Amino acid sequence: MFVSGPVTARIFRSFETVAEEQELISIADYEAAARARVQPGALAYLDGGAGDEVTLRDNVAAWGRLAIRPRQLVPVGHRDTAVTVLGNVRPHPLIVAPMAFQRLAHPAGEAGTARAAAATGAVMCLSTLATTTPAALAQAVPEVARWFQVYVFSDRGVTRELVAQAVEHGYEALVVTVDLPVLGVRERELRTKVSAPVSEVHSAAAAGARGSLTPAEFTALIDPNLSWADVERLAAESQLPVIVKGVMTAEASRLAAAHGVRGLVVSNHGGRQLDTVLSGADALPEVVEAVGDRLDVLVDGGIRRGSDVIKALALGARAVMVGRPVLWGLAVAGVQGARRALEILLAELDVAMALAGAPKATDLDSSFLARAPWSGAP
Ligand SMILES: Cc1cc2nc3c(=O)[nH]c(=O)nc-3n(C[C@H](O)[C@H](O)[C@H](O)COP(=O)(O)O)c2cc1C
Repeated sequence: MFVSGPVTARIFRSFETVAEEQELISIADYEAAARARVQPGALAYLDGGAGDEVTLRDNVAAWGRLAIRPRQLVPVGHRDTAVTVLGNVRPHPLIVAPMAFQRLAHPAGEAGTARAAAATGAVMCLSTLATTTPAALAQAVPEVARWFQVYVFSDRGVTRELVAQAVEHGYEALVVTVDLPVLGVRERELRTKVSAPVSEVHSAAAAGARGSLTPAEFTALIDPNLSWADVERLAAESQLPVIVKGVMTAEASRLAAAHGVRGLVVSNHGGRQLDTVLSGADALPEVVEAVGDRLDVLVDGGIRRGSDVIKALALGARAVMVGRPVLWGLAVAGVQGARRALEILLAELDVAMALAGAPKATDLDSSFLARAPWSGAP
Protein backbone atom coordinates (compact mmCIF):
# COMPACT_ATOMS: atom_id res chain seq x y z
CA MET A 1 0.00 0.00 0.00
CA PHE A 2 1.09 3.53 -0.74
CA VAL A 3 0.33 5.61 2.34
CA SER A 4 1.09 9.20 3.11
CA GLY A 5 4.29 8.86 5.14
CA PRO A 6 6.63 7.22 2.63
CA VAL A 7 5.43 9.37 -0.28
CA THR A 8 5.97 12.59 1.60
CA ALA A 9 9.36 11.48 2.88
CA ARG A 10 10.48 10.60 -0.61
CA ILE A 11 9.41 13.95 -1.95
CA PHE A 12 11.38 15.83 0.68
CA ARG A 13 14.44 13.71 -0.04
CA SER A 14 14.31 14.59 -3.69
CA PHE A 15 13.79 18.26 -2.87
CA GLU A 16 17.03 18.18 -0.92
CA THR A 17 19.03 16.21 -3.44
CA VAL A 18 17.98 18.03 -6.59
CA ALA A 19 19.04 21.48 -5.53
CA GLU A 20 18.50 23.19 -8.87
CA GLU A 21 14.88 22.10 -8.86
CA GLN A 22 13.89 23.52 -5.51
CA GLU A 23 11.87 26.18 -7.25
CA LEU A 24 9.77 23.62 -9.08
CA ILE A 25 6.98 22.55 -6.78
CA SER A 26 3.98 22.20 -9.06
CA ILE A 27 3.20 20.72 -12.46
CA ALA A 28 2.73 24.28 -13.74
CA ASP A 29 6.32 25.04 -12.69
CA TYR A 30 7.56 22.05 -14.72
CA GLU A 31 5.43 23.12 -17.67
CA ALA A 32 6.98 26.59 -17.67
CA ALA A 33 10.50 25.20 -17.20
CA ALA A 34 10.04 22.71 -20.05
CA ARG A 35 8.83 25.47 -22.36
CA ALA A 36 11.99 27.42 -21.66
CA ARG A 37 14.22 24.40 -22.34
CA VAL A 38 12.84 22.29 -25.18
CA GLN A 39 13.65 23.36 -28.74
CA PRO A 40 10.67 24.76 -30.68
CA GLY A 41 10.01 21.80 -32.99
CA ALA A 42 9.94 19.27 -30.18
CA LEU A 43 7.88 21.60 -28.02
CA ALA A 44 5.28 21.96 -30.78
CA TYR A 45 4.93 18.18 -30.82
CA LEU A 46 4.85 17.71 -27.04
CA ASP A 47 2.60 20.59 -26.07
CA GLY A 48 0.44 21.22 -29.10
CA GLY A 49 -3.18 20.30 -29.73
CA ALA A 50 -5.47 20.14 -32.75
CA GLY A 51 -7.27 22.99 -34.50
CA ASP A 52 -7.89 26.00 -32.32
CA GLU A 53 -6.89 23.94 -29.25
CA VAL A 54 -10.31 24.43 -27.66
CA THR A 55 -10.35 20.85 -26.33
CA LEU A 56 -6.71 21.08 -25.26
CA ARG A 57 -7.56 24.03 -23.00
CA ASP A 58 -10.90 22.61 -21.91
CA ASN A 59 -9.31 19.34 -20.74
CA VAL A 60 -7.66 21.33 -17.96
CA ALA A 61 -10.52 23.77 -17.40
CA ALA A 62 -13.15 21.03 -17.04
CA TRP A 63 -11.61 19.64 -13.83
CA GLY A 64 -11.73 23.21 -12.51
CA ARG A 65 -15.47 23.37 -13.17
CA LEU A 66 -16.02 20.63 -10.59
CA ALA A 67 -16.04 21.65 -6.94
CA ILE A 68 -15.28 19.33 -4.04
CA ARG A 69 -17.78 18.73 -1.23
CA PRO A 70 -15.48 17.84 1.66
CA ARG A 71 -16.33 15.80 4.77
CA GLN A 72 -15.02 16.98 8.12
CA LEU A 73 -13.90 15.12 11.22
CA VAL A 74 -13.31 11.92 9.33
CA PRO A 75 -10.19 10.19 10.71
CA VAL A 76 -7.59 10.73 7.99
CA GLY A 77 -4.38 9.97 9.89
CA HIS A 78 -3.86 6.93 7.71
CA ARG A 79 -4.49 7.35 4.01
CA ASP A 80 -4.55 4.66 1.37
CA THR A 81 -4.37 5.58 -2.30
CA ALA A 82 -4.67 1.96 -3.52
CA VAL A 83 -7.06 1.13 -6.36
CA THR A 84 -7.86 -2.05 -8.28
CA VAL A 85 -7.35 -2.02 -12.04
CA LEU A 86 -7.91 -5.10 -14.23
CA GLY A 87 -8.19 -7.13 -11.04
CA ASN A 88 -4.76 -6.06 -9.75
CA VAL A 89 -4.29 -3.85 -6.71
CA ARG A 90 -2.15 -0.88 -7.63
CA PRO A 91 -0.57 1.39 -4.99
CA HIS A 92 -2.27 4.48 -6.45
CA PRO A 93 -4.32 5.48 -9.49
CA LEU A 94 -1.61 7.16 -11.64
CA ILE A 95 -0.66 5.58 -14.96
CA VAL A 96 1.84 7.15 -17.34
CA ALA A 97 -0.11 7.74 -20.58
CA PRO A 98 1.34 6.32 -23.79
CA MET A 99 3.27 9.07 -25.51
CA ALA A 100 5.25 8.72 -28.70
CA PHE A 101 8.83 9.81 -29.42
CA GLN A 102 9.89 10.59 -25.86
CA ARG A 103 13.48 11.13 -26.89
CA LEU A 104 12.24 14.41 -28.36
CA ALA A 105 11.78 15.55 -24.76
CA HIS A 106 15.03 14.16 -23.34
CA PRO A 107 17.72 11.65 -24.36
CA ALA A 108 16.62 9.39 -21.47
CA GLY A 109 13.43 8.81 -23.49
CA GLU A 110 10.95 6.07 -22.60
CA ALA A 111 13.43 4.22 -20.40
CA GLY A 112 13.76 7.39 -18.30
CA THR A 113 10.00 7.67 -17.98
CA ALA A 114 9.77 3.99 -17.08
CA ARG A 115 12.38 4.44 -14.32
CA ALA A 116 10.35 7.32 -12.93
CA ALA A 117 7.19 5.21 -13.08
CA ALA A 118 8.92 2.31 -11.33
CA ALA A 119 10.25 4.60 -8.58
CA THR A 120 6.75 5.89 -7.84
CA GLY A 121 4.73 2.69 -8.32
CA ALA A 122 2.97 4.00 -11.45
CA VAL A 123 2.15 1.79 -14.41
CA MET A 124 4.07 2.78 -17.56
CA CYS A 125 2.13 2.53 -20.81
CA LEU A 126 4.58 2.33 -23.73
CA SER A 127 3.47 3.79 -27.07
CA THR A 128 3.69 1.84 -30.32
CA LEU A 129 5.51 4.91 -31.64
CA ALA A 130 8.08 4.87 -28.87
CA THR A 131 11.74 5.50 -29.53
CA THR A 132 12.42 2.05 -28.08
CA THR A 133 10.93 -1.40 -28.63
CA PRO A 134 8.73 -3.19 -26.06
CA ALA A 135 11.49 -5.77 -25.61
CA ALA A 136 14.27 -3.20 -25.11
CA LEU A 137 12.23 -1.24 -22.55
CA ALA A 138 11.46 -4.39 -20.57
CA GLN A 139 15.14 -5.31 -20.58
CA ALA A 140 16.22 -1.80 -19.56
CA VAL A 141 13.67 -1.38 -16.74
CA PRO A 142 12.43 -4.85 -15.82
CA GLU A 143 10.96 -3.66 -12.52
CA VAL A 144 8.33 -1.36 -14.02
CA ALA A 145 4.69 -2.48 -14.25
CA ARG A 146 3.99 -2.03 -17.95
CA TRP A 147 1.20 -1.90 -20.50
CA PHE A 148 1.66 -1.69 -24.26
CA GLN A 149 -0.34 0.77 -26.36
CA VAL A 150 -1.25 -0.62 -29.77
CA TYR A 151 -1.69 1.34 -32.96
CA VAL A 152 -2.75 -1.18 -35.58
CA PHE A 153 -0.59 -0.61 -38.66
CA SER A 154 -1.86 -1.30 -42.16
CA ASP A 155 0.95 -3.86 -42.21
CA ARG A 156 -0.60 -6.24 -39.67
CA GLY A 157 2.61 -8.27 -39.52
CA VAL A 158 4.39 -5.36 -37.79
CA THR A 159 1.57 -5.09 -35.24
CA ARG A 160 1.55 -8.85 -34.60
CA GLU A 161 5.30 -8.78 -33.97
CA LEU A 162 4.99 -5.86 -31.51
CA VAL A 163 2.14 -7.52 -29.61
CA ALA A 164 4.11 -10.79 -29.46
CA GLN A 165 7.06 -8.86 -28.00
CA ALA A 166 4.78 -7.30 -25.38
CA VAL A 167 3.36 -10.69 -24.39
CA GLU A 168 6.81 -12.25 -24.22
CA HIS A 169 8.29 -9.39 -22.20
CA GLY A 170 5.86 -9.16 -19.33
CA TYR A 171 3.46 -6.42 -20.38
CA GLU A 172 0.23 -6.78 -18.42
CA ALA A 173 -2.30 -5.26 -20.83
CA LEU A 174 -2.77 -4.00 -24.37
CA VAL A 175 -4.22 -0.51 -24.79
CA VAL A 176 -5.68 -0.16 -28.28
CA THR A 177 -5.97 3.48 -29.29
CA VAL A 178 -9.02 4.09 -31.47
CA ASP A 179 -9.08 7.86 -31.87
CA LEU A 180 -6.35 8.14 -34.48
CA PRO A 181 -7.52 6.68 -37.80
CA VAL A 182 -5.80 9.75 -39.25
CA LEU A 183 -3.76 12.47 -37.60
CA GLY A 184 -5.58 15.54 -36.25
CA VAL A 185 -4.83 18.94 -37.72
CA ARG A 186 -1.96 20.08 -35.52
CA GLU A 187 -0.93 23.49 -36.68
CA ARG A 188 1.98 23.95 -34.29
CA GLU A 189 3.60 20.82 -35.75
CA LEU A 190 2.89 21.93 -39.30
CA ARG A 191 4.54 25.27 -38.61
CA THR A 192 7.70 23.93 -36.95
CA LYS A 193 8.22 20.85 -39.15
CA VAL A 194 9.30 18.53 -36.33
CA SER A 195 10.76 15.13 -37.20
CA ALA A 196 11.38 12.12 -34.99
CA PRO A 197 14.03 9.39 -34.95
CA VAL A 198 13.27 6.09 -36.64
CA SER A 199 13.84 3.21 -34.24
CA GLU A 200 14.06 -0.44 -35.19
CA VAL A 201 10.32 -0.88 -35.01
CA HIS A 202 9.60 2.19 -37.00
CA SER A 203 12.05 1.19 -39.70
CA ALA A 204 10.16 -2.05 -40.15
CA ALA A 205 6.83 -0.27 -40.13
CA ALA A 206 8.08 2.39 -42.46
CA ALA A 207 9.25 -0.26 -44.93
CA GLY A 208 12.87 0.67 -44.93
CA ALA A 209 12.64 4.33 -43.99
CA ARG A 210 15.97 5.73 -42.82
CA GLY A 211 16.95 8.61 -40.61
CA SER A 212 13.88 10.41 -39.38
CA LEU A 213 10.24 10.86 -40.27
CA THR A 214 7.73 13.45 -39.19
CA PRO A 215 5.05 12.30 -36.72
CA ALA A 216 2.56 12.73 -39.58
CA GLU A 217 4.57 10.30 -41.72
CA PHE A 218 4.64 7.75 -38.90
CA THR A 219 0.93 8.00 -38.23
CA ALA A 220 0.19 7.52 -41.95
CA LEU A 221 1.30 3.89 -41.37
CA ILE A 222 -1.71 3.32 -39.06
CA ASP A 223 -4.72 1.50 -40.53
CA PRO A 224 -7.57 4.01 -40.98
CA ASN A 225 -10.07 1.16 -41.49
CA LEU A 226 -9.80 -0.48 -38.07
CA SER A 227 -13.20 -1.79 -36.93
CA TRP A 228 -14.85 -3.16 -33.79
CA ALA A 229 -14.50 -6.61 -35.38
CA ASP A 230 -10.71 -6.09 -35.42
CA VAL A 231 -10.76 -5.09 -31.75
CA GLU A 232 -12.85 -8.16 -30.92
CA ARG A 233 -10.41 -10.41 -32.77
CA LEU A 234 -7.48 -8.86 -30.91
CA ALA A 235 -9.27 -9.28 -27.56
CA ALA A 236 -10.17 -12.90 -28.36
CA GLU A 237 -6.72 -13.88 -29.64
CA SER A 238 -4.63 -11.88 -27.20
CA GLN A 239 -3.22 -13.48 -24.11
CA LEU A 240 -3.50 -10.08 -22.41
CA PRO A 241 -6.51 -8.02 -21.34
CA VAL A 242 -7.42 -5.37 -23.89
CA ILE A 243 -8.30 -1.78 -22.99
CA VAL A 244 -9.70 0.56 -25.64
CA LYS A 245 -8.39 4.13 -25.44
CA GLY A 246 -10.14 7.08 -26.99
CA VAL A 247 -13.82 6.37 -26.34
CA MET A 248 -15.99 9.38 -25.43
CA THR A 249 -19.64 8.27 -25.53
CA ALA A 250 -22.07 5.77 -24.00
CA GLU A 251 -22.73 4.29 -27.46
CA ALA A 252 -19.09 3.53 -28.20
CA SER A 253 -18.60 2.21 -24.66
CA ARG A 254 -21.44 -0.28 -25.08
CA LEU A 255 -19.92 -1.41 -28.37
CA ALA A 256 -16.59 -1.89 -26.63
CA ALA A 257 -18.25 -3.98 -23.92
CA ALA A 258 -19.94 -6.09 -26.57
CA HIS A 259 -16.61 -6.75 -28.31
CA GLY A 260 -14.71 -8.40 -25.52
CA VAL A 261 -12.59 -5.62 -24.03
CA ARG A 262 -11.85 -5.35 -20.30
CA GLY A 263 -11.49 -1.61 -19.93
CA LEU A 264 -11.75 1.82 -21.51
CA VAL A 265 -9.82 5.04 -21.35
CA VAL A 266 -12.15 8.00 -21.77
CA SER A 267 -9.77 10.21 -23.71
CA ASN A 268 -9.59 12.78 -26.49
CA HIS A 269 -5.87 12.10 -27.00
CA GLY A 270 -4.89 15.14 -25.00
CA GLY A 271 -6.78 17.48 -27.34
CA ARG A 272 -4.54 16.42 -30.24
CA GLN A 273 -7.09 14.79 -32.53
CA LEU A 274 -10.61 16.20 -33.10
CA ASP A 275 -10.85 19.71 -31.70
CA THR A 276 -14.02 20.76 -29.84
CA VAL A 277 -14.86 17.23 -28.60
CA LEU A 278 -15.77 17.07 -24.92
CA SER A 279 -13.11 17.03 -22.25
CA GLY A 280 -12.31 13.74 -20.50
CA ALA A 281 -13.92 15.09 -17.32
CA ASP A 282 -17.18 15.95 -19.09
CA ALA A 283 -17.37 12.71 -21.10
CA LEU A 284 -16.58 10.42 -18.17
CA PRO A 285 -19.98 10.34 -16.40
CA GLU A 286 -21.95 9.02 -19.36
CA VAL A 287 -19.38 6.29 -20.00
CA VAL A 288 -19.36 5.25 -16.34
CA GLU A 289 -23.14 5.15 -16.34
CA ALA A 290 -23.24 3.03 -19.51
CA VAL A 291 -20.57 0.42 -18.73
CA GLY A 292 -19.00 1.18 -15.34
CA ASP A 293 -20.48 -2.00 -13.87
CA ARG A 294 -18.91 -4.16 -16.60
CA LEU A 295 -15.64 -2.50 -17.61
CA ASP A 296 -12.81 -0.74 -15.83
CA VAL A 297 -13.20 2.89 -16.88
CA LEU A 298 -10.10 5.12 -16.84
CA VAL A 299 -9.83 8.74 -17.92
CA ASP A 300 -7.15 11.13 -19.11
CA GLY A 301 -6.69 14.69 -20.30
CA GLY A 302 -5.73 17.75 -18.30
CA ILE A 303 -4.84 16.08 -15.00
CA ARG A 304 -2.50 18.65 -13.43
CA ARG A 305 -3.35 18.48 -9.70
CA GLY A 306 -3.99 15.82 -7.08
CA SER A 307 -7.45 17.33 -6.69
CA ASP A 308 -8.13 16.52 -10.37
CA VAL A 309 -7.35 12.89 -9.58
CA ILE A 310 -9.85 12.72 -6.71
CA LYS A 311 -12.49 14.27 -8.98
CA ALA A 312 -11.86 11.61 -11.63
CA LEU A 313 -12.19 8.85 -9.03
CA ALA A 314 -15.32 10.48 -7.60
CA LEU A 315 -16.85 10.43 -11.10
CA GLY A 316 -16.25 6.69 -11.26
CA ALA A 317 -12.83 6.29 -12.91
CA ARG A 318 -10.70 3.50 -11.49
CA ALA A 319 -7.46 5.21 -12.44
CA VAL A 320 -6.15 8.13 -14.49
CA MET A 321 -3.55 8.45 -17.18
CA VAL A 322 -1.17 11.37 -16.95
CA GLY A 323 0.46 12.63 -20.13
CA ARG A 324 2.25 15.92 -20.59
CA PRO A 325 3.17 16.50 -16.91
CA VAL A 326 5.49 13.48 -17.08
CA LEU A 327 7.07 14.68 -20.31
CA TRP A 328 7.58 18.18 -18.90
CA GLY A 329 9.37 16.61 -15.95
CA LEU A 330 11.44 14.42 -18.27
CA ALA A 331 12.34 17.40 -20.45
CA VAL A 332 13.50 19.47 -17.46
CA ALA A 333 15.53 16.90 -15.55
CA GLY A 334 15.38 13.43 -17.16
CA VAL A 335 14.39 10.54 -14.90
CA GLN A 336 14.51 12.72 -11.81
CA GLY A 337 12.19 15.32 -13.33
CA ALA A 338 9.65 12.76 -14.55
CA ARG A 339 9.73 11.18 -11.12
CA ARG A 340 9.22 14.54 -9.42
CA ALA A 341 6.20 15.27 -11.61
CA LEU A 342 4.61 11.99 -10.52
CA GLU A 343 5.60 12.58 -6.89
CA ILE A 344 4.04 16.05 -6.92
CA LEU A 345 0.75 14.60 -8.17
CA LEU A 346 0.92 11.83 -5.55
CA ALA A 347 1.66 14.23 -2.71
CA GLU A 348 -1.19 16.49 -3.82
CA LEU A 349 -3.49 13.47 -4.12
CA ASP A 350 -2.64 12.49 -0.56
CA VAL A 351 -3.37 15.99 0.76
CA ALA A 352 -6.58 16.28 -1.27
CA MET A 353 -7.85 12.95 0.10
CA ALA A 354 -7.11 14.04 3.66
CA LEU A 355 -8.79 17.44 3.25
CA ALA A 356 -11.80 16.01 1.40
CA GLY A 357 -12.30 13.50 4.21
CA ALA A 358 -11.71 10.45 2.00
CA PRO A 359 -8.94 8.45 3.67
CA LYS A 360 -9.20 5.72 1.06
CA ALA A 361 -9.18 6.42 -2.67
CA THR A 362 -11.99 3.89 -2.94
CA ASP A 363 -14.17 6.03 -0.59
CA LEU A 364 -14.60 8.62 -3.35
CA ASP A 365 -17.95 8.84 -5.12
CA SER A 366 -20.15 11.51 -6.66
CA SER A 367 -21.31 12.75 -3.27
CA PHE A 368 -17.89 14.43 -3.00
CA LEU A 369 -18.60 16.64 -6.03
CA ALA A 370 -20.69 19.64 -6.97
CA ARG A 371 -20.86 21.78 -10.11
CA ALA A 372 -18.64 24.75 -9.35
CA PRO A 373 -20.39 28.11 -9.14
CA TRP A 374 -17.44 29.82 -10.81
CA SER A 375 -17.29 29.87 -14.58
CA GLY A 376 -14.23 27.69 -15.02
CA ALA A 377 -10.58 27.66 -14.14
CA PRO A 378 -7.85 28.35 -14.94
C1 LIG B 1 3.56 14.15 -26.99
C2 LIG B 1 2.38 13.24 -26.91
C3 LIG B 1 2.41 12.05 -27.62
C4 LIG B 1 1.32 11.18 -27.53
N1 LIG B 1 1.40 9.97 -28.18
C5 LIG B 1 0.40 9.07 -28.02
C6 LIG B 1 0.53 7.76 -28.55
O1 LIG B 1 1.52 7.40 -29.17
N2 LIG B 1 -0.50 6.90 -28.35
C7 LIG B 1 -1.63 7.26 -27.66
O2 LIG B 1 -2.55 6.43 -27.51
N3 LIG B 1 -1.76 8.49 -27.13
C8 LIG B 1 -0.77 9.39 -27.29
N4 LIG B 1 -0.88 10.63 -26.69
C9 LIG B 1 -2.07 10.95 -25.86
C10 LIG B 1 -1.82 10.55 -24.40
O3 LIG B 1 -1.76 9.16 -24.26
C11 LIG B 1 -2.94 11.05 -23.48
O4 LIG B 1 -4.18 10.63 -23.98
C12 LIG B 1 -2.94 12.58 -23.29
O5 LIG B 1 -1.64 13.10 -23.37
C13 LIG B 1 -3.56 12.93 -21.94
O6 LIG B 1 -3.66 14.31 -21.79
P1 LIG B 1 -2.61 15.20 -20.93
O7 LIG B 1 -1.38 15.30 -21.76
O8 LIG B 1 -3.34 16.48 -20.79
O9 LIG B 1 -2.38 14.49 -19.62
C14 LIG B 1 0.19 11.52 -26.77
C15 LIG B 1 0.18 12.72 -26.06
C16 LIG B 1 1.26 13.58 -26.12
C17 LIG B 1 1.23 14.85 -25.33
